[in-house]
Amino acid sequence: MANLFYAMTMPGLETLAFSEIRAKLSGAELVKFMRGVALFRSPMIYEDILDLRTTEDVFASLVHIKGLRRGPEGLRVLHSATLNADLEAALMSWRRTHHGARPRTWRVVSQMTGSYDFRRMDGGKAISDALRRSLPRGMRLVEDDADLEVWLWLGSGDVLIGVRLSDASMRHRTYKREHLPASLRPTVAAAMGWLSRPDEHDIVLDPLCGAGTILIERALLGPVEDAIGGDIRDEAVSLARRNARAADVDATWKVWDARTLPLSASSVTRIITNLPFGKQIGTKEENEQLYTTLIQEFDRVLAPKGLMVSLTSEDRLWDTILREHDWRIIKKVVFVVLGQPASIFVTERS
Ligand SMILES: C[S@@+](CC[C@H](N)C(=O)[O-])C[C@H]1O[C@@H](n2cnc3c(N)ncnc32)[C@H](O)[C@@H]1O
Repeated sequence: MANLFYAMTMPGLETLAFSEIRAKLSGAELVKFMRGVALFRSPMIYEDILDLRTTEDVFASLVHIKGLRRGPEGLRVLHSATLNADLEAALMSWRRTHHGARPRTWRVVSQMTGSYDFRRMDGGKAISDALRRSLPRGMRLVEDDADLEVWLWLGSGDVLIGVRLSDASMRHRTYKREHLPASLRPTVAAAMGWLSRPDEHDIVLDPLCGAGTILIERALLGPVEDAIGGDIRDEAVSLARRNARAADVDATWKVWDARTLPLSASSVTRIITNLPFGKQIGTKEENEQLYTTLIQEFDRVLAPKGLMVSLTSEDRLWDTILREHDWRIIKKVVFVVLGQPASIFVTERS
């Protein structure tokens, strides 16, 4: 049975995703981090590998090559490595995660982030040619909507070929039917929930909830005592309510201005929130004013030992404001969201 797997994550969230993997899949051991990838060993394949919330996609690894040649020699190596891979074991992992089904169609998907002297498609073709010979007879190669997807990832330095165990619902979720501009990727929202050190007694607040993704993901990670979200826009609150209902999550949603929250002092134990970035919503100048007012309100509603996890692309501004208001930054995770660098701050009061 194949015991090498890899998780694809948002670049920057690899270590965090692996901490969730280690907590949920007993015996999982890290092999290597690459950009946007955590390669790990697991003593067995668990069906709930698909329930990982901070991972975008998960694969049974077929081939891992370090330092692949850039030219045509590299293509020959891809071909022969695929021919020699333990396809049987990877197919078994696929069946385990697909209720015992047998794949009838297949295709190859290639991605290239490193620089090579051949095209991404040529890499894909080298693999397809090998798979045609080694996949079970009767399986049909198709262009789209294949049962079985073999992904080739040509990174800089490392190359991975794997059988995709997940499908798009792992990263998009089924509850998120409608989107708002600036709505957060569910895996990032889950990463923020994970960073908030989830506890069943948490009273979690997202004062700027948008489509509700953060609170929903937090509630799906584990029980909470209470979840409260609000936004200044009616439309956002209705959407959050609908998304929560679709996700079967219990939460209270309100239209409010986060600068004057209708909540008592020290009434929440966690604040998890995605601040307006100044690109899609608000301007930089407005943000400076807004962030300063918000931190005072967060200070008031958060219980003394409470934790705040906040996301912004205004890293410098938020960092300065936090320090000025005596917040201690326990951890900062930098990654790329909507094409720009963003930081998740994990903070508590000094
Ligand atoms: C970056 S978005 C949050 C996106 C959200 N995490 C999601 O996944 O949909 C910031 C949100 O803050 C809201 N907002 C801006 N100013 C606000 C204020 N003063 N009070 C409450 N909400 C506000 C916006 O309407 C927007 O939905």
